[in-house]
Amino acid sequence: MTGHGVSAPKFQQIESCSGMNFELKNVTRRFGKNIAVNSVNVDIPQGQMVGVIGRSGAGKSTLLRMINRLIDPSEGNILFGDTDVSKLKGKALRDWQRDCAMIFQQFNLVPRLDVLTNVMLGRLNHRSTAKSLMNVFTREERIMAIAALERLGIEQTALQKAGTLSGGQQQRVAIARALMQDPKMVLADEPIASLDPLNAKVVMDALRDINEREGITVITNLHTLDTARAYCERIIGMAHGSVVFDGPPSELTAAAVQEIYGSDKDGAGINESMTSTSINHEKLARHAAANQSANAGDPPLAEAEAAAP
Ligand SMILES: Nc1ncnc2c1ncn2[C@@H]1O[C@H](COP(=O)(O)OP(=O)(O)O)[C@@H](O)[C@H]1O
Ligand SMILES: [Mg+2]
Repeated sequence: MTGHGVSAPKFQQIESCSGMNFELKNVTRRFGKNIAVNSVNVDIPQGQMVGVIGRSGAGKSTLLRMINRLIDPSEGNILFGDTDVSKLKGKALRDWQRDCAMIFQQFNLVPRLDVLTNVMLGRLNHRSTAKSLMNVFTREERIMAIAALERLGIEQTALQKAGTLSGGQQQRVAIARALMQDPKMVLADEPIASLDPLNAKVVMDALRDINEREGITVITNLHTLDTARAYCERIIGMAHGSVVFDGPPSELTAAAVQEIYGSDKDGAGINESMTSTSINHEKLARHAAANQSANAGDPPLAEAEAAAP
């Protein structure tokens, strides 16, 4: 959309980081005696879309938080190209945190600030402290923020307080804010766990678009297998802190699923339908049909949703 007459946004990072491998080497994290992540080894080439799956408590969030250095590994190395991310301090650490944008299940916006300001906050690590303190944003930053909102189809919310938006819209704002960081990597921790199926699809489509168009690596924790299968070229399955599966969706057999999710307390095997709730095409079709009959003559869902308080 070019309704605001802005030129195409520049979110390109491919040239500066193409070919940069990202690697976790024997990464372990303990909390007291509990091993949350147990000697994980993974090697992720730039531009992959990776889904991390596993039961609650498997160590998925801890893994992502270590990559972003929100928490430190107890052992092991996190390498991006020649840089040992696990050893960064000060400005270099802040630069890294800018380079790998985080997206959370609960969006983590500032609800009392308007959407545009929330998005521009993604630029904080690109600017001087003085400017940030005064909350002064340049015209260029505003244009960039509006372009990011347009790209996610929510530019009409720019002046609304973020807290008044629907969950799906808030997550799109969070993605726009992440884009403003000009990241090399996007880390998403169960980004659709709080969303209805339709919004879950919009958000996953947006992550896929960023991955495909900018070549940004996306690593996303997902609580549903079908979403991981549908969107990710690579799936990492975790159980009890360890990686028990690492491969393309086509190799994720029933036996592999069993190993990742284990059995329930009665010993019954876990099947895919039990971990499949978010983007279910049957459900979506039912949703759309119900909506159509309820709103005959009304604007399409996305518009109706956008106009809601
Ligand atoms: N800050 C923390 N303090 C203590 N234990 C934690 C902390 N964060 C996570 N854990 C523990 O680490 C394990 C993995 O948790 P987590 O990474 O949140 O799993 P997941 O995201 O797969 O549900 C769990 O046993 C959890 O209780
Ligand atoms: Mg988690």
